[in-house]
Amino acid sequence: MVYLPSTGSTNDDAKRLADAGEPEGLVVLADEQTAGRGRAGKRPWLTPERTAVALSVLLRPRLPAEQLPLLSLAAGVAAAEAVSSVADVACRLKWPNDVMVGSRKLGGVLVESAISGGSVQYAVAGIGLNVNVPAADLARWREITLPPTSLLMETGASVSRERLTIALIECLDQSYGWLGSGAPEARGTLLARYRAALATIGQLVRISGAGLEGVGVAEDVTETGALVLRLADGSRRTFTHGEVTVRPV
Ligand code: BTN
Repeated sequence: MVYLPSTGSTNDDAKRLADAGEPEGLVVLADEQTAGRGRAGKRPWLTPERTAVALSVLLRPRLPAEQLPLLSLAAGVAAAEAVSSVADVACRLKWPNDVMVGSRKLGGVLVESAISGGSVQYAVAGIGLNVNVPAADLARWREITLPPTSLLMETGASVSRERLTIALIECLDQSYGWLGSGAPEARGTLLARYRAALATIGQLVRISGAGLEGVGVAEDVTETGALVLRLADGSRRTFTHGEVTVRPV
């Protein structure tokens, strides 16, 4: 584990360490990020000093590149389950991996990877959670696409960042294990836990992207975590991570 009191982005640090040959399992953990990145790396992610959890885990999964979205699912499941285990909140996911409490965003996952010859050289799973972030800090966060929240705001009490960090690493170890295991039942467990954590299934959602603007019903997710939507014209279409964004109507 590399602990940094303050850094630009833990994902950038972990990628640098991956390029330098560090092994899988390395965790970069920071008390503050000054250039944290959210949403496909394009939007700033707020990590005020000592009130959030921001960490990145270096992984070297033996996965074909097209299965990489499963890693985002494994990280999302870990984040939702870790939060629910340490705080008295119902933490669920908005497809594919926004970490939500009700309609508010508590955290997110940013997986970045290096791919060569169709296989994954490394992947960095970055997870950010708003733990004891006060309302005033969240109020100045203009770049976030969903209304933000923190565990402090949801529960009215501060939550131990240490306990949450430990739970998060343990849960990620477990969900990554399901992914890495060759056994089909382990993959099945990961998908079952993902479906259970996903608030989106069954919801009427507004869809945007892939040339579509409209509403539909989120019916299911596939074995690779793609979202199956029933559109207003009755057609059923499947969208992969990044192709469309959905929001509850
Ligand atoms: C999202 O927008 O939902 C993704 C947020 C991911 C934030 C985390 S915080 C740790 C890691 N370092 C970053 O710069 N981003 C990720």
